[in-house]
Amino acid sequence: MTATLTGTPQWKALSDHYDTIKDTQLRDLFASDSQRGQSLTTEAAGLYLDYSKNRITAETMTLLLDLARSRGLSEKIEAMFTGEKINLTENRAVLHTALRAPRDASVMVDGENVIPEVHAVLDKMSAFCDRVRGGQWKGHTGKSIRNIVNIGIGGSDLGPVMAYEALRHFSQRDLTFRFISNVDATDFAEATVDLDPAETLFIVASKTFTTIETMTNASTARQWLLDGTGGDESAIAKHFVALSTNAEKVSAFGIDTANMFGFWDWVGGRYSMDSAIGLSTMLAVGPSGFREMLDGFHEMDQHFRTTPLEENLPVIMAMLSVWYANFFGVETTAVLPYEQYLKRFPAYLQQLTMESNGKYVTVQGEQVDHETGLIYWGEPGTNGQHSFYQLIHQGTRLIPCDFIAFAKSLNPIGNHQDILIANVLAQSEALAFGKTAEEVKAEGTEDWLVPHRVFQGNRPSNTLFADQMSPSVLGKLVALYEHNVYVQSVIWDIDAFDQWGVELGKVLATKIIPELASDHSDELSHDSSTNHLIERYRKMK
Ligand code: F6P
Repeated sequence: MTATLTGTPQWKALSDHYDTIKDTQLRDLFASDSQRGQSLTTEAAGLYLDYSKNRITAETMTLLLDLARSRGLSEKIEAMFTGEKINLTENRAVLHTALRAPRDASVMVDGENVIPEVHAVLDKMSAFCDRVRGGQWKGHTGKSIRNIVNIGIGGSDLGPVMAYEALRHFSQRDLTFRFISNVDATDFAEATVDLDPAETLFIVASKTFTTIETMTNASTARQWLLDGTGGDESAIAKHFVALSTNAEKVSAFGIDTANMFGFWDWVGGRYSMDSAIGLSTMLAVGPSGFREMLDGFHEMDQHFRTTPLEENLPVIMAMLSVWYANFFGVETTAVLPYEQYLKRFPAYLQQLTMESNGKYVTVQGEQVDHETGLIYWGEPGTNGQHSFYQLIHQGTRLIPCDFIAFAKSLNPIGNHQDILIANVLAQSEALAFGKTAEEVKAEGTEDWLVPHRVFQGNRPSNTLFADQMSPSVLGKLVALYEHNVYVQSVIWDIDAFDQWGVELGKVLATKIIPELASDHSDELSHDSSTNHLIERYRKMK
């Protein structure tokens, strides 16, 4: 069994090192090493990572990587790629990396190579997408499909929405894409208000095909479609497809399994945007664009699997998160893409990071004695600058930032891109180096105002820099964060691939649903707060 994390000599060494470095200023670290901005960088698959503006020295990285080695990181990376059942609490392999492996690869699960199946589904998706995109797939009344509505939630929504937005530039513009996730009927109503049912295809995306939000929305969609196309049940086959691992439930819902695109229990919901769950993405960008995205994922996978820890992008980013979470007591990380197309990337990352690493017990079921999952959040630049950056610059909390920027815009207009990039560079510079009282005074500021205008600096950030947004770059970025999350979980000894924490609320909601009926007569047996709120709702509804 792995030693308790905080009891390891590697942890102790980091803790001692933290005591010596915690007050060191980035200003001083840069002043004493003119090469720092070149040396604390690394590049992989066209993604350049500058991590020099972190509160680290070369010794910090050595000690962090010692910790990683002591946790058996390299072996655990290999265990994931080779299909070991590393999702212990669900007794499952974790093989999202197999989804983007080339056709001739071999990955064995329970004695069977899963790659041929992966490519069979990709081929079926491609053939379907070609027919829809080309207008040959006809709806019930003979019209071609012009609207694609994905119904799903969590991993069956956040990846597809994020990828659609991220790759919108490459999408087929005469198709309209909508995403319905919330069980709040407004989500359905607003997404469909201007759509012609005869031209609409619903994709019901649910790994389990039991999720109440998705099943409720799918039933409403079914009725909406029947109402709009004359009520003939045979219309369902032309207007509904399913993405799921559960063929039985798909057919019980009334969708022909011929119109189902499958995946497997070794694909976690939040790791599934490159499985059949990505059908909406493939419809938007076409099979070749989707393939490009998968190749991008695969390139990052290969980097993660084969590159020494010192040069390994996901490993470096993960160990920096461990450094801040466990030694500086940092609670959140801001992800700040300076690329409008990545506007849903922070929302996507919230599920990926927090559903994965929001755990307080180790894989062996013992309570951890250290912090785990950071809170990830963010907004695209430069909008955040006029909103929450104040707190990052001058608040009392330390918030490491991941800046993501691209050299080229997909919409080069005037000098927008220079202004955008100047802003991202200015932010990381201001955070790191701040502005001293002397500098503020030297500008002629009155004494009483000086403290308000001082920036302490020493606020850490990473800058990820790439050439231009593309399907391939998106795949690399997502894989980078997927692996970053896994490395953190290995250090913390938690299962990054289960999500038991979402179950209790689901069970309680199921119990409450019938209790909300105005004529429900059984005595309520919740706490006094919940009982009273239920009664109030019954009266008000
Ligand atoms: O929120 C819990 C969860 O199980 C997520 O992990 C998952 O992505 C989401 O619900 C949706 O699940 P499904 O794809 O089975 O509908």
